Amino acid sequence: MSQSLATSTHYTRAARIMHWAMAFLLLSLLFAGLSMVQSLAPWHLTLLGLHKSFGVIALIGVVIRLVIRLRNPAPALPASVPAWQQRIARVSHILLYAAMFAMPITGYLMQNAAGRPIVFFDLFVLPALLPISLPLYGILRELHGLIALGFILLILVHIGAALHHGWVKRDGVLNSMTGKE
Ligand code: HEM
Repeated sequence: MSQSLATSTHYTRAARIMHWAMAFLLLSLLFAGLSMVQSLAPWHLTLLGLHKSFGVIALIGVVIRLVIRLRNPAPALPASVPAWQQRIARVSHILLYAAMFAMPITGYLMQNAAGRPIVFFDLFVLPALLPISLPLYGILRELHGLIALGFILLILVHIGAALHHGWVKRDGVLNSMTGKE
């Protein structure tokens, strides 16, 4: 399936590319984030710098993704999916978007509040949007970690549901994002 327009059964090619690219980027950021906070090894600082720069890219990516999503309605779920499951699917997708925005925004702002410059890939310093404030840094740091936990749970439920549709129900829902007929 290589169509570039949304059909009633498949997401657009642009939406599918963004979905898989963002999935790879976000899982890498989550793993990097969790391993960074467990370690004081010398590579910690290198990973932290990469985490911040790729985190900013994730924020740009989710904006692009939301624009694509709003311009192209998602294919309808099959009629065999009960209404309550369709509602849960809609709410979980909204929560996934909320987490995709909240993670990089809290990460960015906590660095501002800590007074630490965000150097984008050693190229230039990004502007600070908040004044230095230790209490605010504490709150944002806590939020960054808590939202990450919620995000991981949501991703696990999301992957579980997708595989259930693809392997058990075989109702075309997984194919709508892989592009397979
Ligand atoms: C989608 C984007 C992002 C994801 C998924 C993500 C994920 C994570 C995770 C899972 C942690 C560990 C949290 C914990 O266990 O307490 C973490 C820590 C951290 N993140 Fe992010 N992050 C993102 C974006 C950003 C951005 C944009 C910045 C800053 C510009 C940033 C800065 C940090 C810092 C400074 C830490 C703490 C490291 C430490 O205490 O050693 N993150 N991140």
